Amino acid sequence: MATDRSVQSNVEQKRAAGEHAAGYVSDGMVVGLGTGSTVAWSIRAIGKKVSEGLDILGITTSYQAEALAIECRVPLTSLAEHPIPDLAIDGADQIDRDLKAIKGGGAAHTREKVVASSAKRFVIVADAGKSVDRLNAPVPVEVLPFAFRLAERRIIELGGCPTLRQARMKDGPVITDNGNFVIDADFGPIADPSGLSESLNAIPGVVEHGIFLKVDELVVAQDGAVNVITARGDD
Ligand code: 5RP
Repeated sequence: MATDRSVQSNVEQKRAAGEHAAGYVSDGMVVGLGTGSTVAWSIRAIGKKVSEGLDILGITTSYQAEALAIECRVPLTSLAEHPIPDLAIDGADQIDRDLKAIKGGGAAHTREKVVASSAKRFVIVADAGKSVDRLNAPVPVEVLPFAFRLAERRIIELGGCPTLRQARMKDGPVITDNGNFVIDADFGPIADPSGLSESLNAIPGVVEHGIFLKVDELVVAQDGAVNVITARGDD
């Protein structure tokens, strides 16, 4: 169980990483704004820069990000108007040394993946606890409610253990911003993230899963420092 001190330092790490990435934003950019408590620090910092004259447009990935961006007075646009954002910033639940990540702890991974994949550059911001040698967290799988039993069966056939994510403060399953269910699929350590990604994509009714294979840069905070790790660019 985390102590108060470790919880505090975790929050400080999130803040340091999130605010660092806000420094990548410059005049004229269209910026994808991710979901979660780490990128929230980026959104707040971008809002502050906007109040000081920065001229940018944001594209949000969830109702949570939208509400925060509006509160911080970040002007917003859409992918329909600006299909190729200059930059997307987002958090992650786990990220490995090859900069492959698992996202979707906040059930926002479908829109997050669309925005990240549309952007010229995708940056993940994280506290040190998110870095792992090998991905092993359950993979969030957004699925049409009509198809969830089939998806559960296929996940078991792939060697996973599916759990339909349940809501807090509402009876029954989590309903995503897109009106779907989320299955958390536990595969244990994932030896081949690309292969698993392909297999999950092939399940009828799966809208999107939380394995992210293309991250350009990781901004990770640890021990009072911020480290930036760039993708090797060999895949
Ligand atoms: C939401 C996400 C988040 O980016 C991820 O869960 C990390 O969240 P946090 O920054 O709060 O730890 O993928 O779907």
